[in-house]
Amino acid sequence: MRKLQSSRVRLSAGLLMGLAMALALPATAPAQVAAPAIIGLGQPLDAAQIASYAITIFPDGRNLPPGQGSVVQGAALYQMHCLACHGAKGIEGPAARLAGSDGFMGWTDPLRVLRIKKYPLLVQSVGARWPYATTVFDYVRRAMPYHAPKSLTDDEVYAVTAQLLHMNDLVADGAVMNRSTLPRVVMPALAKTVSAWPGP
Ligand code: HEC
Repeated sequence: MRKLQSSRVRLSAGLLMGLAMALALPATAPAQVAAPAIIGLGQPLDAAQIASYAITIFPDGRNLPPGQGSVVQGAALYQMHCLACHGAKGIEGPAARLAGSDGFMGWTDPLRVLRIKKYPLLVQSVGARWPYATTVFDYVRRAMPYHAPKSLTDDEVYAVTAQLLHMNDLVADGAVMNRSTLPRVVMPALAKTVSAWPGP
């Protein structure tokens, strides 16, 4: 009981102090809102500038740009821009493994030991692990090739994405990727994903 009383005393003392401080606030407080202009940091962006940064592609394909690219075009681009780091088949490395949708996903895979023998390094790949094909486009466009991100045109990114999906046996030789075909490619990892994209 005594404890309760003392905490009540402390509480009301705190309230009183808070009230006193609030009353003591200078009447000019709102003027501080203008501070950023005085400091001179930042600048407003216009719609075109914002658009150049708003390049996120959503899992369902929302925000995919116009344009297209085929597996055939992508194969040539892959050789030129990607092979050196990811290997001819996308499994050799030295950089991250891109291909191999062979079901090698986790510790529960009963054939894991055999697969480790076949692919001792970088056993998980984009093809096996990424649940949405649209993310491949987003990632490659913003981050690859590693030494020159954002250097590929949208058509080239569509083509390289088509090639990457083809290396994973997810699309046919003649496939053409664009904003309507790409979201329809079903990745094997989607079924193994904890929560699927609920949509916008
Ligand atoms: C200079 C070397 C280099 C080149 C060239 C390159 N990459 Fe990469 N790539 C990397 C590295 C390093 C990573 C890992 C980056 C990280 O995790 O931050 C990576 C990661 C990736 C990933 C994600 C892998 C994962 O599992 O997270 C994809 C997809 C990819 N690259 C595709 C491409 C494509 C397509 C090209 C050609 C247009 C390309 N890369 C060219 C070095 C390269």
